[in-house]
Amino acid sequence: MYKLVTKRVLSDVSTLFEVEAPLVARKAKPGQFIILRIDEKGERIPLTIADSDPERGTITIIFQEVGLTTKCLAKKEAGEYIADFVGPLGKPMEFPEHPGRIIAVGGGVGIAPIYPKVKGFYKAGMDVFSIIGARTKDFLILEDEMRLVSKELHVCTDDGSYGRHGFVSDLLQNFLADGEPIAEIIAVGPLPMMRAIVNQTRPYGVKTVVSLNPIMVDGTGMCGACRVTVAGKTKFTCVDGPVFDGHQVDFDELVARSRMYQAEEKQALGHCRCGCGGEH
Ligand code: NAD
Ligand code: FES
Repeated sequence: MYKLVTKRVLSDVSTLFEVEAPLVARKAKPGQFIILRIDEKGERIPLTIADSDPERGTITIIFQEVGLTTKCLAKKEAGEYIADFVGPLGKPMEFPEHPGRIIAVGGGVGIAPIYPKVKGFYKAGMDVFSIIGARTKDFLILEDEMRLVSKELHVCTDDGSYGRHGFVSDLLQNFLADGEPIAEIIAVGPLPMMRAIVNQTRPYGVKTVVSLNPIMVDGTGMCGACRVTVAGKTKFTCVDGPVFDGHQVDFDELVARSRMYQAEEKQALGHCRCGCGGEH
């Protein structure tokens, strides 16, 4: 069993937990993820490691309430336990090979997985220009944390309630247009955002990496649930990723696969088994 040590509600739909998992914390590197189960019959969900503290033996996870499991998890309080917490999984982040600016783009709950990567660059002495955006001010998370590890932080909201009015891709356009060399763009967020950004950067020939978050089951490359086509070849996000060259990813297939269990997910919302007493 794994203890939830601290809880922070980041927005109406986003929650942060520090989880006591000393063995995971000892090995975790930026870019890796964990798979958890709330109880022994529960769904396995992958979540990016947002931070780790090997001395305290804790891993930080941040998630948005999108389905039954994340709604149940959000109802838990500090001091409670979850059944499984496996990791670190996936490949750690890599550093760009070319000189130039690093631009990190985080959309919505994708700001959580981009934060450890920006922090990793920062710890390596590299400057990162960060862009974060959310639907409204209330959905924006980790602004202070991102500011601390970024050379510049640019913020936007879809409705203009905070920062610039527009999508993260609108702010990115300024960087693409100003002609300063860009070593790498790293984009993490919902699939439509990542697809829009790789289409936007392709004509500029700027390396653009994305971090994917598909359905996962075993997390070891055996079940095939997390498969994605990259450069025409089948890859498994859990062992070959989660970071891939965005210009090589088949986003149409990914979007279709992400909708495969939509009906079941909706149905599951009415059948909470976790005992949290929620209405879901
Ligand atoms: P959202 O729809 O609120 O979008 C967040 C931001 O992304 C927007 O504010 C906008 O700036 C940008 N964006 C969205 N659509 C865009 C488009 N078509 N073009 C350009 N920019 C666009 O996102 P959300 O509700 O916070 O995110 C939820 C989704 O993120 C879920 O589907 C979840 O599966 C996914 N997710 C991905 C990761 C990952 O590692 N890639 C991690 C967690 C969640
Ligand atoms: Fe099973 Fe990746 S989760 S192959």
